[in-house]
Amino acid sequence: MNDQNPVIETQNLTKTYRMGAADVLALRGVDMRIGAGDFVALMGSSGSGKSTMMHLLGCLDTPTAGRYLLEGRDVGSLSAQERARVRNQRIGFIFQTFNLLPRLTALDNVALPLLYRAAGGQGDNGTSRLDHGAGSRATGKQSPRERALAALTRVGLADRAGHRPTQLSGGQRQRVAIARALVGDPALILADEPTGNLDSSTGGDIMRLLAELHAEGRTLLLVTHDRAVAEQAEYTLHMRDGRLLP
Ligand SMILES: Nc1ncnc2c1ncn2[C@@H]1O[C@H](COP(=O)(O)OP(=O)(O)O)[C@@H](O)[C@H]1O
Ligand SMILES: [Mg+2]
Repeated sequence: MNDQNPVIETQNLTKTYRMGAADVLALRGVDMRIGAGDFVALMGSSGSGKSTMMHLLGCLDTPTAGRYLLEGRDVGSLSAQERARVRNQRIGFIFQTFNLLPRLTALDNVALPLLYRAAGGQGDNGTSRLDHGAGSRATGKQSPRERALAALTRVGLADRAGHRPTQLSGGQRQRVAIARALVGDPALILADEPTGNLDSSTGGDIMRLLAELHAEGRTLLLVTHDRAVAEQAEYTLHMRDGRLLP
């Protein structure tokens, strides 16, 4: 690990979900360090807290206690708006279920994070801004659509730019999701079981793509149940019962 310069550092990260009268202790004090450029697999049985951890690391949720430093910055001290900006500009998220918007084309799904960015990290429904090149002034030379097409080309799907998610195979949907994660040029890519809904051959294609992103210098944290997938990472972390195993 590149320990000089951790991209991720958590201290006693704790998450409790309130379920009616009962509390679910999903994370019980996780200390995690991941260096810049690392490719890390995260394994653990179902319910061990992997997705909760990924949501906190992705700034999609906030911890009950503990600290999270992203590139040295204390995420807990940020306002909701600043946190949204960090999420938008520094992090790409890839989900098991792809999470594409069904009514948008592949191109518009990929362009969406750039439109959120142009809107100041607040987000909107996006669609009305797409046709006006709203982000081009903010981002310099290329419009969001041009950058989205470049990202789709990067994952080998330029010829599917006009397709909606239902018109794509599972592997193609996940490649669109990877293009969406990539389009903002994030430092950190978080992938929660990205091959979990794919057959092994399609999953292999996705893993090759992720390995290329790592080779380009990005930091990658990947949750998987699959030992063969985990073996492609540089090292593996294990969780059990809301804790990181030593
Ligand atoms: N939104 C939620 N509300 C309540 N409990 C949750 C929620 N998300 C996860 N949990 C609980 O937290 C624990 C960890 O879940 P999760 O992080 O999804 O584990 P994993 O991804 O390793 O399967 C489980 O006991 C799960 O039931
Ligand atoms: Mg999970």
